[in-house]
Amino acid sequence: MAAASAVRTEEPGEDDDDGETVAGLGSYGGKVRLLGGGAGGCYEDGEAAAAETMLLWGIQQPTLARPNAFVAQSSLALAVEACGHSLSILQSPSSLITPGVTGSVMWDSGIVLGKFLEHAVDSRMLLLQGKKVVELGSGCGLVGCISALLGAQVVLTDLPDRLRLLRKNVETNLKHDNMRGSAVVKELIWGDDPDRDLIEPLPDYVLGSDVIYSEGAVEDLMETLLQLSGTQTTIILAGELRNDSILEYFLDAAMKYFVVGRVDQAQFHPDYHSQRVAMYVLVKKVKLTETEDGL
Ligand SMILES: C[S@@+](CC[C@H](N)C(=O)[O-])C[C@H]1O[C@@H](n2cnc3c(N)ncnc32)[C@H](O)[C@@H]1O
Repeated sequence: MAAASAVRTEEPGEDDDDGETVAGLGSYGGKVRLLGGGAGGCYEDGEAAAAETMLLWGIQQPTLARPNAFVAQSSLALAVEACGHSLSILQSPSSLITPGVTGSVMWDSGIVLGKFLEHAVDSRMLLLQGKKVVELGSGCGLVGCISALLGAQVVLTDLPDRLRLLRKNVETNLKHDNMRGSAVVKELIWGDDPDRDLIEPLPDYVLGSDVIYSEGAVEDLMETLLQLSGTQTTIILAGELRNDSILEYFLDAAMKYFVVGRVDQAQFHPDYHSQRVAMYVLVKKVKLTETEDGL
């Protein structure tokens, strides 16, 4: 299987000062560090994911950075300035004590991803106007709300019992007369077949923040990413660096089906970056026929 066309051909991968391959990937206009060197990388299966987590934990030292730097999880509402609007994201801190409930409050990587999208659109690295966006595990909904304010047609999704707070946040924060995009809330359990309107047509972007936090959920998450994406879909995932083995497990699985690139911290919003948060762009590999592949 070859993956060359996911990497922008007009800007072939080049080695940076650290010997890593940087290239454009999917519809994100910035350059990303291709894991495993991209399609022509020299790593054996599994080695590239291990090398990536070793690099992140060794150089970025996430555990030294302050957790919850941008959120206040004990508050009933979190104020965020984005796209010229003052957003008020309602939270339900008391729900956090329920086992398995994580989306009732905001997490740092959600703020980092939301503000990254705003910054990337402002700096013309990303175009969301009129694009179909599906957000996975939306939680309180900040990322989806910012995407809609940036002009996207967004579907925010989460587990069935998480949708009430999510809907309230969408209604509260997206009621402006001059809304550029739109937002709807829908149930989507990873691993289940998505409703037709989620995949017909396939989204231009799939977004997720802090959705890689349990090894047990990786298989279902991967299934959903595969169902929601075509080779023209750009997936952007941000996550908090809490556990290297879970991230390695996810990246190892992802690299079988997707070209994966890490967004450098320098491309994050200047006021919203953290050593604890990493961001990846994924684009589905193109299966070439044996003849095209030169076999
Ligand atoms: C850590 S929270 C992150 C919430 C939000 N994206 C943020 O960054 O603030 C993880 C989210 O994934 C959702 N989630 C977990 N497992 C899921 C599954 N199997 N199917 C769909 N959503 C799931 C949770 O309900 C929760 O909203």
